[in-house]
This record gives sequence, C-alpha cells and structure tokens, in this order.
Amino acid sequence: MNVLVAIYSPVAAWNIPDRHVERLRREFPHHSFRHARREDEVMPLIGDTDIAFTSELRRAQFAAARRLRWVHSPAAGVGAMLFPEMVDSPVVMSNSRAMSAGHIAEHVILVTLALFRKLPLAFRSQLRKYWAQDDAVAAPPMRTIRGSRALLVGLGSIGAACASRFAALGATVDAVRRRIDQPRPDGVTDVGTADQLLPFLGRADVVIITAAQTAETRGIIGETQLAAMKSDAILVNVSRGKLVDEAKLAHALSAGSIGGAALDVFEHEPLDAASPLWTLPNVIVTPHTSGFRADHWDAATDLFAQNLRRFDSRQPLLNLVDKAAGY
Ligand SMILES: NC(=O)c1ccc[n+]([C@@H]2O[C@H](COP(=O)([O-])OP(=O)(O)OC[C@H]3O[C@@H](n4cnc5c(N)ncnc54)[C@H](OP(=O)(O)O)[C@@H]3O)[C@@H](O)[C@H]2O)c1
Repeated sequence: MNVLVAIYSPVAAWNIPDRHVERLRREFPHHSFRHARREDEVMPLIGDTDIAFTSELRRAQFAAARRLRWVHSPAAGVGAMLFPEMVDSPVVMSNSRAMSAGHIAEHVILVTLALFRKLPLAFRSQLRKYWAQDDAVAAPPMRTIRGSRALLVGLGSIGAACASRFAALGATVDAVRRRIDQPRPDGVTDVGTADQLLPFLGRADVVIITAAQTAETRGIIGETQLAAMKSDAILVNVSRGKLVDEAKLAHALSAGSIGGAALDVFEHEPLDAASPLWTLPNVIVTPHTSGFRADHWDAATDLFAQNLRRFDSRQPLLNLVDKAAGY
C-alpha cells in the first residue's frame, strides 16, 4: 500500500520529525511511505495514496484521492476534514483521542487551582516586587477543589481523565455529553445532555469544556450560558475555541459576571494581540499547549503503527471517528 505521511504546520512542534517516518519504513517494509513536509507536496502524491496519516486533507486533495481507503489523524479534533464529500465517502477515519488526556487533565487541575488560589495576582505582584497579601485575601475568598462542584461539558477521554482527578481531590463532578446511555466514568455524580446544560451551569464552581467541536457544540457557551454561571465560577476551555463565544466571554469577565477563565484554545489562533483576553486580570492564556508531551510524536506514531498492524490483519481499527457525528 502507498502510505502518505503529511503532518506539517507553521508551528514547529506540530511537524512530525523525519525519524518517525523512518521508523514506520523500517517496521512496515511491505508498505511504501511517502512524506509530504509542505501542503504543495500533497497533491502530486495523493492520487495513488491508499492510506493517509495526516491532520489535514483539503477538499481538492480529497477529490484527487482516487484510491484512498483510510485516514488516521495524529490529532483528536478532525472537524476540518469532515466536509460532506468525506462524510459521504466509504473512506474510514480514525483519530488520536485519549493520547494526551492525562496531560490535559493535569493542566486543567493546574489552572483551576491557579485561579482558585489567585496565582495570576501573585505573579503580577512578584514582577512589581509588591507584597499582595491584603489583595489576595480580599473577596472573593481563595478556594479549594475539595468541596467544589465541577461541570464537564463533554465526557470523552479528556472529560473522564478530568473527572477522576477532580473527584480524587474532593470535588463533586457533573457532566453533560451527547450519548447519555454510555457507561459513566469513575468520579462522575450526575450526567445530562446538552439541552440540560443551563441548570448544571448554575451550580458549578468550575466549568470545563472538553467536548468535540461539531455542528452542535459550536458556540455551546454563549451569552445565555455565561449568564447562567455563578458570579465566582471559572471557565476552562481545553477543547476548541469555537465552542465558546469569545467576545461574550470577554464581556462577562470584564463585567464580573463570572469569576475567571483559563483558555488554551481560541476561535482564531494565535490569539490576536488586540484581544482583551490577553490583559484581563482574571484570565490565564496558554498557547494551545495543554496537550503537549515530550514524547508526543513517539505516542502518535505508536498509535498509528498499532492501527496499521490492525489494518493489515483486518482487525477493527482503534479510535474510529463517527464521521456523521463529527468526532
Ligand atoms: N487543547 C489541546 O491541545 C487538545 C488536545 C486534544 C484534544 N483536544 C480537543 O478536545 C476534544 C475532546 O477530546 P477527547 O479526546 O476527549 O475526545 P472524545 O473522547 O472523542 O470526546 C468527545 C466528547 O464530546 C462529547 N460531545 C459531542 N457532542 C456533544 C454535544 N452535542 N453535547 C455534549 N457533549 C458532546 C462526546 O459525548 P459522548 O461521550 O456522549 O459521545 C464526548 O464525550 C477534541 O475533539 C479536540 O478538539 C484539544
């Protein structure tokens, strides 16, 4: 089979290093691996590609892909590849969900505690050599995860990894998800669907967005949802920026109608320098790094290799994407 590896990005960390493609060549000598390091290198190779290991496939490239049978993404979010021609085609898609769920869950705990314990204030004061003890103990009070209530919007691999950690630290954990009939992960008390979101929002101290980006979840946190949150509640987004209305969020944060936010993902990345989110005192901005791990490409290549072995032996693939549902 012809396998196209096309994982490139202007962000250096999101380019698969050559040595991983070499590893695949050594492990699968019966397949022919071609490595596209730039977008313009894809089109000449896509026509006779059988399998694509890629996070990006454009409509025109897909139209030229006459032999394509399977696309495996090194990312979890695959929405950009789910144009109607792809969804309607027999091409199978798999992704890398769960690969970094533990890392992301630790990040979520970190930023929740940072906001609960007013760490942004301490950092800013430290830069000015200012002893901010009175400011730190002023209202609203510092909080702990123990005794708090967390709401997970999305209960997939990241949601489940967050649930067990919040529960272990003494929080009560609620969640909303699409498929209410799925087994409930450890640590989750109450589960509902997105149409029950408002009452769940009204009792949460921390709201964590971990749902996949689909037509249904786009803008799932807008003005009404922000207004339903408690005035000291914090919002953490580690999923995709388009799930949250950023302008309404910035407004809610400046007006004090919610307590703070920790954002790893944005509607447009990199975040525009003019965004008020950069400078609001109750906001932590991280540059889409919550899921990164030192052995990222080892883990991503391991998963693809595991799936390629399954493909070769006609076993069911891991992490199949439901193309119609969007994740
Ligand atoms: N910040 C980063 O670096 C980073 C890294 C990895 C992933 N991500 C993002 O995080 C997302 C989640 O990753 P994951 O590994 O947890 O994916 P996952 O295991 O596929 O989970 C996706 C979750 O979204 C839920 N969902 C889908 N539609 C919904 C709806 N209408 N209402 C409520 N929940 C809905 C699903 O509900 P059911 O379980 O009921 O189906 C599922 O729990 C990815 O799609 C990706 O965009 C970000």
